[in-house]
Amino acid sequence: MITLGIETSCDETAAALVRDGREVLADVVSTQIDIHRRWGGVVPELASRNHVVQVMPVIDEAFSRAKLTLDDVSQIAVTSGPGLQGALLVGLEVGKAIAAARGLPFVGVNHLEGHLLAARLMPEPPSAPFLGLVVSGGHTTLYDVPALGTYVKLGTTRDDAAGEAYDKVAKVLGLPYPGGLPIDQLAQKGDPKAIAFPRALPQRDVLDWSFSGLKTAVSLHVKEHGVPEGQALADLCASFQEAVADALTKKLQLAVKKHRAKSVVLCGGVAANSRLRALAKERVDEEGARLYLPSIALCTDNGAMIAVAGHEALARGLRSDLALDADPNWRL
Ligand code: KG4
Ligand code: ZN
Repeated sequence: MITLGIETSCDETAAALVRDGREVLADVVSTQIDIHRRWGGVVPELASRNHVVQVMPVIDEAFSRAKLTLDDVSQIAVTSGPGLQGALLVGLEVGKAIAAARGLPFVGVNHLEGHLLAARLMPEPPSAPFLGLVVSGGHTTLYDVPALGTYVKLGTTRDDAAGEAYDKVAKVLGLPYPGGLPIDQLAQKGDPKAIAFPRALPQRDVLDWSFSGLKTAVSLHVKEHGVPEGQALADLCASFQEAVADALTKKLQLAVKKHRAKSVVLCGGVAANSRLRALAKERVDEEGARLYLPSIALCTDNGAMIAVAGHEALARGLRSDLALDADPNWRL
């Protein structure tokens, strides 16, 4: 049973072919980062236009890498939200057109469910129940997942998403967009104790986060001392990164304890972060639970995670109507 997964919710045009919701036969991602970089962030109209240019070549490339044709596909899964309306529509319309032309089952997938279920592609995948923390450019949300398809929100950010904080801090420091990877690389050469940045941890018992205060603290530091260079820049990045990873994992650890969780999934673009990966492992281990960390390619946006989430939804009997519209604010 082969699922074609298509993802165009933001600035990555992606398509994947996945067998039985487990085996990735091809996973092609065409990033628009270079197009948006000069504007310092994603420009929605440019994103949509470039998805239009890229979507068919990316799908063709997936078939050629997997040495398959459309005749081999059993079902179609496409991200239908949340994300940028115009960007979502491109992948969605292509997916619907293929489903209609071929008479194939089709389902719209929530991008966040895709991130969570990327862990199902690990060699030893988690099964429900598990706790899942999605940390991406647009979201920082913790879910209790008692069964696949059921997502109970336990906590979220009260302001900026963790990835958004990375991208904004990078801008202040004059680093390229998106800021996650360049800050991560610099941080690895810096001293995380150099600057004591605040950790906003809304009430001890609440599983929420806040990152706007941290972002402001970095801006104030730069206003006062200027944009650092060399070792001082590495130290600032390390101190910022430590504050983000510490806040994320402290609440994650609290959640594991509170919910007596045995399995934890950490996913989304920020889950590619080296310090977050290490600290999450340490703190989840401390609770005697097991942390499932998808590979970096499966953490950032990709089509395979959409194919898997679609496969699971279709297996549960879910089908989307071909009249399905994009839902930019779809809450999981
Ligand atoms: O999940 P994703 O690819 O797209 C969204 O759904 O938003 O996440 C993108 C976010 C960006 O904010 C980017 O800066 C961040 O993930 N990111 C990282 C790293 N790699 C990507 N943040 C911290 N450390 C990284 N190594
Ligand atoms: Zn994403």
